[in-house]
Amino acid sequence: MQAKVVVVGSLNMDLVTRASRLPQPGETVVGSGFATVPGGKGANQAVAAARLGAPTAMVGCVGDDAYGVQLRQALLDEGIDCQAVDAVPGVSSGVALIVVDDASQNAIVIVAGGNGEVTPQRVSAADALLQQAEVIVCQLEVPAQTVAFALKRGRELGKTVILNPAPASAPLPADWFAHIDYLIPNESEALALTGIAVDSLAGAQQAAAWLLARGARKVIITLGAQGSLFADGAGFEHFAAPKVQAVDTTAAGDTFVGAFAAALSRGESERAAIAFGQVAAALSVTRAGAQPSIPTQADVAGFARP
Ligand code: RIB
Repeated sequence: MQAKVVVVGSLNMDLVTRASRLPQPGETVVGSGFATVPGGKGANQAVAAARLGAPTAMVGCVGDDAYGVQLRQALLDEGIDCQAVDAVPGVSSGVALIVVDDASQNAIVIVAGGNGEVTPQRVSAADALLQQAEVIVCQLEVPAQTVAFALKRGRELGKTVILNPAPASAPLPADWFAHIDYLIPNESEALALTGIAVDSLAGAQQAAAWLLARGARKVIITLGAQGSLFADGAGFEHFAAPKVQAVDTTAAGDTFVGAFAAALSRGESERAAIAFGQVAAALSVTRAGAQPSIPTQADVAGFARP
C-alpha cells in the first residue's frame, strides 16, 4: 500500500468518563461510567483519513506498555501503515484524561508519554513515506521541533501540508507559515494563535485575516455547530454545518481534518473537501468516544442533510 495521507502526530489512550458538568477548580464531581478508548489527535486524524477512503500511514511513538500495543493495533485494524509507529522502551504511552458533560462538551488533560519521543530523526527515518504521500498532516501533541521539521520537509517535497494547531496555547513560530498550505484551528485555538476572540463569524473573519496577514496561505477555522470559515487571499466563505443531535464532540475536529485530508488526497476540490469533512465531523458527534465515533465513507455517503 502506498500511503496518500501521512500523519505525523500523537497516539493517546483516552480515559473517559461522563459527568453532568465539568468540575470547577478545586471541585469534585461524580462521574458516570468509565472507558478506555483509543485516541490522540494524530491517531484520530489517521483513522478518519483511512475510514474515509485514503491509504494512510502514521508516524508516531507509543510506550512499551499494554496501551501502546492496543493503540498500535487499533491503527493496524484500520489498515493504517504503522511501520513508523515505534514502541519506545522505558516510556509510558500517551494518555488523555477526558470528562464529557451533559451538553456534550469535554475537558481534556493530556500526558505526552511516548508522544514526547517523536523526534525529527524519527520523521527523517520515515522520509520514504513522506515522499510517497499527497498530503502530510501535523498537530501539536508532539514536540514543536518535530512539527517544524515535518512541515518544512513536506514543503520541500511539494506535498500538501496541513497543520491542525491543537492544542494551542501561544502564537505559532513566524517561520512555520511558509510551510503550511492549510492551517485548521478551532475557535479556542484561533484565539490562542491570534489573541482575537472567535465568538462570532465576524470574529472568525478577523482571526483568519490576522493569520493570512502573518503568512498563512489558507485558513479553515472550525466553528463547531456553526460549521467552518474558509479564508484565503481571495476572501472568506462560510460553510454551514449539518444539524445533528450531539452526544460527544470528542474528536470532531480530528474527524474534520482527517476527512479533509482524505478528500484532498484523491483530488477533490478544497470546497468539496470541506463539505465532506463537515458531514464526517457532524456524524462523529452523534457517537461517543474518539476513534469509535469516526464514520466510514459509506456513513458519509448515506447521510441525508436535514
Ligand atoms: O481531539 C481529541 C483527542 O484529544 C482525544 O482523543 C485525546 O487523546 C486528545 O489528544
